[in-house]
Amino acid sequence: MTRGVLIAIEGLDRTGKTTQTSRLLERLDKSGVDATLIKFPERTTPIGRIINTYLTDKAFELSDQSAHLLFSANRWELAEKIRNLLEDGKTVVLDRYVYSGVAYSSAKGLPFDWCLSPDLGLPKPDIVLFMKFKHEDNVTREGFGEERYEVAEFQQRVKTQFEKFQNEDNWKTIYVDNKSIEEVGELIWAEYEVVARREREALQKFTKL
Ligand code: TYD
Repeated sequence: MTRGVLIAIEGLDRTGKTTQTSRLLERLDKSGVDATLIKFPERTTPIGRIINTYLTDKAFELSDQSAHLLFSANRWELAEKIRNLLEDGKTVVLDRYVYSGVAYSSAKGLPFDWCLSPDLGLPKPDIVLFMKFKHEDNVTREGFGEERYEVAEFQQRVKTQFEKFQNEDNWKTIYVDNKSIEEVGELIWAEYEVVARREREALQKFTKL
């Protein structure tokens, strides 16, 4: 049996990540691929509940370091589950992951490498799809500005930090400007298929030996 594919969908707030991750799940399901969606922050775990309060209640203060470590700990809460799913041959789709953790906290001024270190050892995605507006600004999108962090100037800094990952071997940028939900969905599906084919071919090579 082949190991499942680990896909992370990343991007700034309101770039359509959540819409696209659920569409991807539906399509995987229709294609007979057993897949699970995990969204970070996962707000229902013990640490996730603290994060939810932090994000929604402006009176709830945390140092940037504490908030960062909580977001990372939240991923560690789910790490074993992710690993087990992959080993069982299931595909796992992540709505935000390590890259959001590093990009948001380093945009606040914390050192990039410091931000990365608590996440070292987490399962590495086979592919990270970074949803990005090249020209248009996502701050004009509906619903923007309700939570902490949803401020234009801060979002710009987050984008700059995200882009530091762009030379990673698993990184793919999906430009979403002027594209319909369906068109972005097709681009994501095409990227998924490349990775899934690679996994299958690697397994075939291995079993031929
Ligand atoms: P999310 O629930 O994905 O919000 P949305 O659906 O509006 O995009 O994430 C909430 C906020 O938490 C978002 O502004 C990004 C931020 N965040 C971090 O700062 N660090 C992290 O590790 C993660 C996963 C998210």
